[in-house]
Amino acid sequence: MRTRDFHGTPVGAVGLGCMGMSWAYSASERDDDASVALIREALDLGVTFLDTAQVYGDGHNETLVGRALRGRRDQAVVATKTGLVVDDAATHAMHRDGSPEHVRRSAEESLRRLGIDAIDLFYLHRVDPGVPLAESWGAMAELVAEGKVRRLGLSEVTVAQAEEAHRAHPVAAIQSELSLWTRDAMGAPGGIAGGGSDSTAAATGGVGDVVGWCRDNGAAFVPFSPLGRGFLTGAVSSADFEEGDFRAGNPRFQEEALKANLRIVEVVKTVAGRHGATPAQVAIAWTLAQGDHVIPIPGTKKSRYLRDNAGAAALDLTAADLADLDSVPLPTGDRY
Ligand SMILES: NC(=O)c1ccc[n+]([C@@H]2O[C@H](COP(=O)([O-])OP(=O)(O)OC[C@H]3O[C@@H](n4cnc5c(N)ncnc54)[C@H](OP(=O)(O)O)[C@@H]3O)[C@@H](O)[C@H]2O)c1
Repeated sequence: MRTRDFHGTPVGAVGLGCMGMSWAYSASERDDDASVALIREALDLGVTFLDTAQVYGDGHNETLVGRALRGRRDQAVVATKTGLVVDDAATHAMHRDGSPEHVRRSAEESLRRLGIDAIDLFYLHRVDPGVPLAESWGAMAELVAEGKVRRLGLSEVTVAQAEEAHRAHPVAAIQSELSLWTRDAMGAPGGIAGGGSDSTAAATGGVGDVVGWCRDNGAAFVPFSPLGRGFLTGAVSSADFEEGDFRAGNPRFQEEALKANLRIVEVVKTVAGRHGATPAQVAIAWTLAQGDHVIPIPGTKKSRYLRDNAGAAALDLTAADLADLDSVPLPTGDRY
């Protein structure tokens, strides 16, 4: 697989989001042994940039990644996150805790569950409005000084927040949602206003060009949900989700909105047809086309999807493809 540079370490241009193996989507299809095998298959394919978080299954996902890494730790760049706490796993209810105490404690717990000596990339999952960013970030920087963490990242932040953190300790990566139907991190108009939990950005009218800020400041940009939570692959055609599926509560996935949004998928399918590619590959390749510093982390728990997604690294979209993809209709419905 083609690689991208992550601060001197080559990583597969397409990474792997491990969240769905423990959390969020189609719970009945989860299988721990299959997930461990899938992560190892990813490493075999050169998909080496692995993404997890403390909250995915309230520790369960980090434990799975830890199992998969046994004997293969050096082949992966391992990212996890702090700053959120699960209240109720069944409803995905969480609250923010960016206190230095939580940051420190959760890092120790993550290290133990992952079974590793140092976390390669440690993100603040969300900025806690009740704790100054400098305090959360300062506690994370102390973990770097102690050798428990190698690099620091932020998730779903504004450019102003990235700059504030970067002045105190280098921001190695920012992970935010980016896909054909969610372009807020590129400074798209409207920001993530209406995005419910993202009150900071809503209050300031947008997050700014976070993707460009990363390019200009030597940070990786890591698109999460690059497949639009499965929607952009064309595999989701009705709002008939199983109980507890996170998408059942998302405005974009309500029946009427979903039907309207299928117009976006039609464009993706047309571009895919030109290349003999799949819609998933086109959706991922579009994120890769946003800059050499971009490393998407599509999520799956299935081997056939993993291999499909890995194939996106070899797909070069033309200027005409990108023009078509950049003019897809705006989505109907907020993301949260
Ligand atoms: N920082 C944050 O706040 C944040 C938020 C959300 C996610 N993330 C990270 O980003 C990663 C990816 O995001 P995501 O999982 O939300 O969404 P995603 O990658 O956009 O989509 C995942 C969904 O697409 C399906 N899928 C995957 N590959 C497919 C293919 N080739 N063809 C058809 N369907 C396919 C998956 O199905 P199966 O599950 O059946 O394989 C799953 O339902 C997560 O795993 C997590 O690590 C971070």
